[in-house]
Formats: sequence, structure tokens, C-alpha cells
Amino acid sequence: MKVGVLTGGGDCPGLNAVIRGVVRKGVQEYGYEFTGFKDGWRGAVEGDTVPLGIPAVRGILPRGGTILGSSRTNPFTLDEGVRQIKDTLAKHEVDALIAIGGEDTLGVAARLHAEYGIPCVGVPKTIDNDLSATDYTFGFDTAVGIATEAIDRLHTTAESHMRVLVVEVMGRHAGWIALHSGLAGGANAILIPEQRFDLDEVCAWVTSRFKASYAPIVVVAEGAMPKDGDMVLKDATTDSFGHVRLSGVGEWLAKEIEARTGKEARTTVLGHVQRGGTPSAFDRWLATRFGLHAVDAVRDGAFGTMVALRGTDIVRVPLAEATARLKTVDPALYREAGVFFG
Ligand code: F6P
Repeated sequence: MKVGVLTGGGDCPGLNAVIRGVVRKGVQEYGYEFTGFKDGWRGAVEGDTVPLGIPAVRGILPRGGTILGSSRTNPFTLDEGVRQIKDTLAKHEVDALIAIGGEDTLGVAARLHAEYGIPCVGVPKTIDNDLSATDYTFGFDTAVGIATEAIDRLHTTAESHMRVLVVEVMGRHAGWIALHSGLAGGANAILIPEQRFDLDEVCAWVTSRFKASYAPIVVVAEGAMPKDGDMVLKDATTDSFGHVRLSGVGEWLAKEIEARTGKEARTTVLGHVQRGGTPSAFDRWLATRFGLHAVDAVRDGAFGTMVALRGTDIVRVPLAEATARLKTVDPALYREAGVFFG
């Protein structure tokens, strides 16, 4: 049995741990061979491969990024993309594919399996934690840890200068990183894409914090949007995923808060710092287990499935279920955090 492995979409701490888990178990227990496809679906389309055996995975467990490289190539947007993938699989005698990725990468795997019978198993990856059908994705815990540490540090600067500090974290469509790091870091406002925020309310929270002699921290997810009345439409753009966004929402917010409350405000955009570097212990544990179970799914012929975390168990779910819709923050969970705002 020869198995192809690829990593697609944004990089994410734990990708290498999955690859290592897959290869170690596949080679040692089942005698499989592996081929790595470079840069996600691009490598599968173009036949760009790398050898993937035990030597290639030695020492990679704590390393961020992915030894296979990544891209956002989607074969379904290319004229001959699917045919090229079939040719690559035939040429390299690959019997099954393990695709490690988020919504886009796994959406491709789901279609390749459902529409073309290509044997695919998926592994869920995203720092955003917004994939359905799994309690957590690896990378999320690391991102929350990095954001929380940043918030802790920013508290001291906010207090020393009695400033408002706005922290922009990742999360285009879902506010999981904002919610978890905001709670863990003791933020005074957490703004998420799932619920448009009221700028007057945010300014009232800020003012109330100063009255109590504290300097407020506002955590805002990059995809958060103000309510229509507050929107400066000219500042909104459509991102590469076709979603209307207020690009630079953190900067925009700090300016508005300063203008409306008269308090000095600054923004820190954490950006790709949240995605890079060594994975947390939890993410190494989860990613490794995902890898071990993904190769078991191949052995069992459980194609068209994705490995997922349910409680402390790793289970298999249909790829279609995992990619049908995004997992967003439940309104009740968000309301629960509201007691700390202001
Ligand atoms: O999906 C992961 C993610 O990091 C998002 O949180 C973020 O919006 C996006 O990727 C950024 O993508 P890129 O690195 O391609 O700009």
C-alpha cells in the first residue's frame, strides 16, 4: 500500500506532528510506503512529490510549519485539475490519500472521494477551530496560548500609560481565538465575527473601566464588524474568500475609541505570530493522535471520512459533514463572557 500525504491551507502548529504520526505508524505497524505531495493540492496536481519515510519525519514533532509545504491551490478551480490529480496518483502508484487541512482542503478531499471515487481520509487542521464535527482542531490551543500571553503583556503597558489597548487576533469567520484568549487574558471587551458590535457600547465599556481606574483591553477578531450604523462603508473590502471585511478592524476601532472617548488608544495586530512556531503540548498530543488514527482509517478502507475529537476519543466522521458548515461561536457561550465586559 502506498499512501500520499499533503498539507493544505494556512500553516498551523502541529502539522508536522500529524505527518510523523501517520508515517511512524504506517511504516512500523503496517509496512506502508508514503509519498509526500508538495504544497497541498498543488503537488498532487503537478506531480510534485517528496520522499516520505522514517528519516524525513525524524525530529519534526516540535517544529512549526509543515515539512511538505502548503498552498491554497484548489484543483476544482483549474481546468484539468482533477484529471491531473488522477494522473499523478496513477503515475506514483498511490492507493490512498491523507489530506491534512481546513475547510477548503478537506472540501476538495470530500468532492474527490464523492464525485471521483478517489480514496481520501481527512485530518482537520486550523488555528481558527471553526471546523464542524470535531470538538477541537490542532493549532487552536497554541494560537490561544500565544494570544493570551500577548494580552497579559499588554495589560501592563495599558496600565502604565492608562491607555486603551486593542488586540486584533485571527479569526475571519469565527471568534474562537478571540473568545478563549479574551477570557483567559481578562479582556474588557471581546468582539467576534458572529455578532456585530455596537461601537457606543464598546466605548461605554471602555469609559467604565477608566472610571474604575483600570486601563481596558479590547480583543477583536479580524473578521468582527461594527453594526451597520457604525460602519464606514468605504473601509470595507471583500477578501480573497469573498467575505465582506473591515480590513484592519483593530486600527479602525482604536481610532474610533480614541475619537469618541478622548482616551489614548493603540492597536496590536498579532497576525501570523499566532500560526508560527512550536506547537503546545496539547496540540502535539492531538495532532499525533489524529495522525495515528488517520492511517488506521486507511487500513480499514474508511475513505470519505475525517478523524475528529469527541471528548477524549478520536472518531471518524463523514468528510461531507465536517465541511458542510463552519462551527461558529454559540451565542449563549458569547453571552456568558459578557459579565467581564466593561
Ligand atoms: O485560517 C487560518 C487563518 O490563519 C485565518 O485565521 C486567517 O484569516 C487566514 O488564515 C490568513 O491567511 P493568509 O495567511 O493566507 O493571509
